[in-house]
Amino acid sequence: MTTSHPWQDPERIKRFLSVTRAAIPLAGEQLATMLYVIQQAAPTVTRFLDVGCGSGVLSHLLRECYPAAYGVLVDYSEPMLTVARDQFDPAQTAILQADLSQPDWVEVVQPHAPFDVVVSGYAIHHLTDERKRGLYQEIFDLLRPGGIFINVEHVASPSPWVESLFIESFADNLYAATRHEGYTREQIVARLYEDDGDIVAPVEAQCGWLRQIGFEHVDCYMKI
Ligand SMILES: C[S@@+](CC[C@H](N)C(=O)[O-])C[C@H]1O[C@@H](n2cnc3c(N)ncnc32)[C@H](O)[C@@H]1O
Repeated sequence: MTTSHPWQDPERIKRFLSVTRAAIPLAGEQLATMLYVIQQAAPTVTRFLDVGCGSGVLSHLLRECYPAAYGVLVDYSEPMLTVARDQFDPAQTAILQADLSQPDWVEVVQPHAPFDVVVSGYAIHHLTDERKRGLYQEIFDLLRPGGIFINVEHVASPSPWVESLFIESFADNLYAATRHEGYTREQIVARLYEDDGDIVAPVEAQCGWLRQIGFEHVDCYMKI
């Protein structure tokens, strides 16, 4: 991998894993909802795929629920993959490097397909809308018939006021978690509004794309 990207920065990754991930509003409830829906849809899971896995937060939960399943984790960040490699048994897990912004990422995971379950957490909003749609089609093609895809994701708000609800809630959590660092709550809010390369898209539009591809039971099962 020769191109530079924001998830190569070890400090950013350390911060995300130690503070930000758990401070996402209703982060625990989101993951519980993900697991509930998957368990209802797929009582048996032989293979799962975690797209933009980071350290493997989602995969850990799938591994607990489906201890015999083979997990495939894919991300382009070497520092993230290094953290993931330390945490998963290589006999039961493939941890792969690929860039989701390029359609050829599929070639890296294809040998492990088809998957019963595909999950993704806070990764796809780093891609253009065109690539999001392409990726959803690629994920559809990697699933076995009847398989399930859950995207735990950051989406566009319909108005600045609605966005402020999310930002204020996120800031409350970050402020509580980092009070010892001395940042004011206002500084934390300002940082959350900074443009850090997110390309968020409305949930309704993304559900529409998924339906057009052929996914069934498409819904936003939980939103804050
Ligand atoms: C916010 S982190 C989320 C990590 C993990 N899924 C979680 O829920 O904690 C976003 C992840 O997406 C990955 N990512 C972003 N753009 C990517 C791309 N073009 N190809 C592969 N991975 C990408 C980053 O490297 C990072 O690990």
